[in-house]
Amino acid sequence: MTIDQDKLGELLGTFVGDLGATIAAGNVVVGHRLGLYRSLADGPATQEQLAQRTGTDPRYVTEWLRGQAAGGYVSYDPATEQFSLTPEQAFALADPDGPLYLPGAFVLALGALRAESQITDAFRTGAGMGWHEHHEDVFSGCEMFFRPGYVANLVSSWIPALDGVAGKLAAGGRVADVGCGLGASTVLIAQAYPKAAILGSDYHEASVDLARKRAAEAGVGDRARFEVASAQTFSGTGYDLVATFDCLHDMGDPVGAARHIRQALDADGTWLIVEPLAADTTAGNLNPVGRVYYSFSTFLCVPNARSQPGGFTLGAQAGEPAIRQVAEQAGFTRFRRATETPFNVVFEARP
Ligand SMILES: C[S@@+](CC[C@H](N)C(=O)[O-])C[C@H]1O[C@@H](n2cnc3c(N)ncnc32)[C@H](O)[C@@H]1O
Repeated sequence: MTIDQDKLGELLGTFVGDLGATIAAGNVVVGHRLGLYRSLADGPATQEQLAQRTGTDPRYVTEWLRGQAAGGYVSYDPATEQFSLTPEQAFALADPDGPLYLPGAFVLALGALRAESQITDAFRTGAGMGWHEHHEDVFSGCEMFFRPGYVANLVSSWIPALDGVAGKLAAGGRVADVGCGLGASTVLIAQAYPKAAILGSDYHEASVDLARKRAAEAGVGDRARFEVASAQTFSGTGYDLVATFDCLHDMGDPVGAARHIRQALDADGTWLIVEPLAADTTAGNLNPVGRVYYSFSTFLCVPNARSQPGGFTLGAQAGEPAIRQVAEQAGFTRFRRATETPFNVVFEARP
């Protein structure tokens, strides 16, 4: 075997970055839980000052700050020996309610990785692992991972991209948010369309309990109702809009879900399908975004689909042809790509 030293050096360079990012993930979550980024966004600090401001131990904070600065998540000024956040670092790391919140993605990743031994076993046996079997950080991390994208796009761009839907909801339409998780999208729709009645549903009871709490806290508990139900059984008919946000590919029976959605829709209703952005081919997904989605999918989406009846395992990089086929198999006659962002693709399906 001949080793090409340049190619080996390239691989080792990738490895050092990846190893640092992997162990730094825990540090990002520590910063999130203890408010370290938020405090640093208030102004530059030495390690002692940041520890004092956040009620934390200075020695731990010192090590944390240095690692964060080495990774580019925090800035360091050797002249003053102070650490700080640039406007860009603060924008991305310090505001959980903002349009971008990177620590949420790491909460999701670390939560998912807690299942490593079960997933390793599942590789041997082919068994599934349901969403509900994961650590609770998967649920809150998922909300933090997706919510900023929904805040930035759902009301301003995704719903207006659908044919005639924004007008119907403004006048008081009926909406079902299927596989709603903690209800981030449900609450946003209820806030934007006060005359609309919206039902959020998810098969996972603990998520539905939290979704109810979120809606009450947001002051929309009167018009956003929730139920524990699968996508194949949720209640009601005559909906103007049924939405599935980043969950269709998770299901063992997406065609059964699509059939149920079709019969629940009004004859002139719309199915809004938000899915991870993906190319039509495996080769087209071999890039950093594809790596993120395939890796999450190995731990979350494929095992969840395997845990359910139906025989499908689309995975998070299913791509447009597979999603279109699900809609067509369920009897939808019109299907189009309505819009997309760097992470999500938005399809519109009509009966
Ligand atoms: C990736 S999370 C997305 C949650 C939420 N839609 C969001 O965007 O934040 C996938 C969700 O699908 C739900 N789910 C999985 N299979 C389901 C099924 N067959 N019926 C209903 N919900 C399902 C899970 O419980 C989980 O809440």
